[in-house]
Amino acid sequence: MKSKLFVCICFAVVMSVFAVMPALAHGHHAVAEDKNAILVVAFGTSVPEARVALENLENAVRKAYPDTEVRVAYTSNIIRRKIAKEQNLVIDTPLIALARLQDEGYSKVVVQPTHFIPGEEYNDLKAVVDAVASIPGKYGFTEIVLSEPMLVHQQDYVDAAMILKRAFGKYVGKGRAVVLMGHGTPHFANAAYAQLQLALDKVAPGFIVGTVEGFPSLEEVQARLVHMGARKVTLVPFMVVAGDHAQNDMAGPEEDSWKSILTAEGYKVDAIVKGMGENDEIAAKVVKKLQAVTGDVF
Ligand code: CO
Repeated sequence: MKSKLFVCICFAVVMSVFAVMPALAHGHHAVAEDKNAILVVAFGTSVPEARVALENLENAVRKAYPDTEVRVAYTSNIIRRKIAKEQNLVIDTPLIALARLQDEGYSKVVVQPTHFIPGEEYNDLKAVVDAVASIPGKYGFTEIVLSEPMLVHQQDYVDAAMILKRAFGKYVGKGRAVVLMGHGTPHFANAAYAQLQLALDKVAPGFIVGTVEGFPSLEEVQARLVHMGARKVTLVPFMVVAGDHAQNDMAGPEEDSWKSILTAEGYKVDAIVKGMGENDEIAAKVVKKLQAVTGDVF
């Protein structure tokens, strides 16, 4: 009996050493000199009031990682230059933000995009992260990882559809539709909007996805409204911030805004000019994406 127990204990000890060894070998356990940082990357916005959406995402990350340095960068050079000139606000590019972190002695960095789709902006960001990751020696990081944008896996679309339903479900029903204005892109990631529409059709009928610069366009939205027999429309930007597109192309007073066009067609139109980043469930989703990566890095 005694010797059997001894063998058992020995076996358990040996197995636990084996279990720990790979983790040590990969250096995944933080050592004393590791300095961790998170870089939250947004497209950016030139509209000061719209910045609350980005701040909400940033704050959610800071709250989830109170002991980690959190920095912010914008991927849009046009917006960075515009706000530097007009608002005296200097926001780094991802490359400059990473160079700064490296220079300040940070060794492990996780980059979290706030973009909705893995389109052009995400591709450009990935190029920067890949390039920086390839730097060995004293000018490189020990580890740098790029996390995912909002819509990648089918579950992400289901999550997004459920979040939209909880936030705007009260605006659909008999003769009522919610029209989401996404950005749209010539990049093949534009297919994300059609995938979101399918996810919404399943869990939140009455939601219609359109885009300003891609497919589906307003034309497809109008066809769906007719098919639904809708009379009342609530316009909502499906963008992180309610910036120029939401304020002007969606809800603006000009005759070519979605609001004006649909109003002229006889719909009763309301617009909710709020960025998705202001939604705490969207912020939680960004934090969840981050947590899926930081567990392996920090
Ligand atoms: Co645009």
